[in-house]
Amino acid sequence: MYNSDIEKILVSNAEIAKRAEEIAAQINADYKGKPILVVGILRGASIFLADIFKRLEGDVELDFMSLSSYGSGTNSSGEVKMIKDLSEPVDGKNVLIIEDIIDTGITLSYLIKVLEARNPESIKLCALLDKPSRRKVELKGDYIGFEIPDEYVVGYGLDYAEKYRNLPDVCVLSKTVYEK
Ligand code: PRP
Repeated sequence: MYNSDIEKILVSNAEIAKRAEEIAAQINADYKGKPILVVGILRGASIFLADIFKRLEGDVELDFMSLSSYGSGTNSSGEVKMIKDLSEPVDGKNVLIIEDIIDTGITLSYLIKVLEARNPESIKLCALLDKPSRRKVELKGDYIGFEIPDEYVVGYGLDYAEKYRNLPDVCVLSKTVYEK
C-alpha cells in the first residue's frame, strides 16, 4: 500500500480508532460532565484530536495553539517558540491538551508552564503516541494512546518535512528518506 519511503506500519488506523474510543470513554468518566476546554496543538494533533473530540460528552470547548521547536530534522534544540496563542482565556477552566506525540517532553513542559501561569482549574495531557525513551525533561501524559520505541514515525498527522501527515496509519519512516 505504501511506497519505499515507508518501512512498516507501526500502529494501524483500526488500532487507533479502538484506542481513541477507550480514551474518550475514560475522559468522560473522569470529568463526569464537568466542562472541558480542549486545546489542540497544531499541526500534528489535528487528526487524532478529532477522534477524541467528537466522543466527548457535555460542555466542551475547542481552541488551538501552535508551537515550534527550533532545530531541524529529527532533533530539536530545546528552544520552543509560540507561533499562535489560544484565542480565549483559560482561567478557571479544565484544560485538556491534545498532542500527537510526546518525545523529549520539551514542547509540552513549556506549554504546561505557560498555561499554568494563566490559572486554569486543571490541566491534563492526552497524546496519541509517547516515546518515553527519548525524554529529556520529566513529563507524564494522563491519557496515552500508544507507547512506541525510538523510531521516526509519520502519518496520522505526523510529518517529516511537512510530508506524510495524510497517511491513515502511524508508520515508521525509512532511514533512506532522512539520511539522504
Ligand atoms: C511535534 C509534536 C510535539 C513535539 C513533541 O511537533 O507535535 O509538539 O514535536 O516533541 P518534544 O516532546 O520533543 O518537545 P512539531 O514541532 O513537529 O510540529 P507539528 O505538530 O506542526 O508537526
